[in-house]
Amino acid sequence: MSNTQNIQWFPGHMAKTKRQISETVKIIDAVAEIVDARIPISSRNPDLMGIIGNKPHIILLNKCDMADSKATEQWIDFYKTHNTMAIPVDCKSGKGLNLFKETVKTVLADKLKANKEKGMIGKPLRVMAVGIPNVGKSSFINKIAGNTRAKVENRPGVTRGNQWFTVDKELELLDTPGVLWPKFEDETVGEHLAFTGAVTDRIIDTELLAMRLLEILVEKYPKMLEERFKMTEFCEEPYDNLCFLAKKRGMMIRGGEADTLRASNMLLEEFRNSKLGRITLEVPNA
Ligand code: G4P
Repeated sequence: MSNTQNIQWFPGHMAKTKRQISETVKIIDAVAEIVDARIPISSRNPDLMGIIGNKPHIILLNKCDMADSKATEQWIDFYKTHNTMAIPVDCKSGKGLNLFKETVKTVLADKLKANKEKGMIGKPLRVMAVGIPNVGKSSFINKIAGNTRAKVENRPGVTRGNQWFTVDKELELLDTPGVLWPKFEDETVGEHLAFTGAVTDRIIDTELLAMRLLEILVEKYPKMLEERFKMTEFCEEPYDNLCFLAKKRGMMIRGGEADTLRASNMLLEEFRNSKLGRITLEVPNA
């Protein structure tokens, strides 16, 4: 489990991160924003677009191996209509990352053309990787740049703590210090991040969380519940559905009652490990 999971966001840290990113944006060519393809809305930082202004921007729909591929396609189309290029990637296996460099070059086509006209050939493109915790930013950098951490340089205007990586002679990747925050004042965002395990569920009642997830699955992915738990009929009350799951898995406590806490942990864990199937909780314009 990611050790960034229990991060606390403080106004001072947030302001500092914002400042660092605004400073750094001046010296890079493009921004690669990593989001969780299962929750592409909730896994974004609400202030990022304001901070990066009109800097060319790519979205990496990461963990696409766990997301519903139809929904991922919908997201790609959605971003396209908003003039943003998005690519599905799986930074655990590296699948899809072969498209990254070409995508960077596509969004920077004008700049590359201008550089060529000025005779500036061979200067590597610089891309800053950003993302809230647990979206897979470290996995992305690691997969694409491996162990190519460049030495700390004293380039003027470069924020201390910025870490450069060399992908190849045409591309450099930058990891910025500071932790980006989600839109945590939004209840649905908090819930979705807790489902995926991006924020700790210790602050949220496990049974309530599991019942919410179950409600969503009943509505959007009933077939998966049928396949995994032989659940063919659904009760009005999420609690009754949770009791059904507990009984199906033989999770009982003394007196023949359903152990709903165990069943909740089981459901959340099976969702997080994709044992239920490929699920996306947020679709465009929903
Ligand atoms: P972060 O830097 O943005 O905080 O994220 P990090 O790379 O640490 O990834 C968070 C978790 O998500 C890790 O799992 C990582 O393996 C997993 N992950 C990242 N990208 C993908 C992906 O495309 N597909 C899948 N299935 N998983 C991905 P973990 O359980 O915290 O650690 P571990 O399993 O690597 O031990």
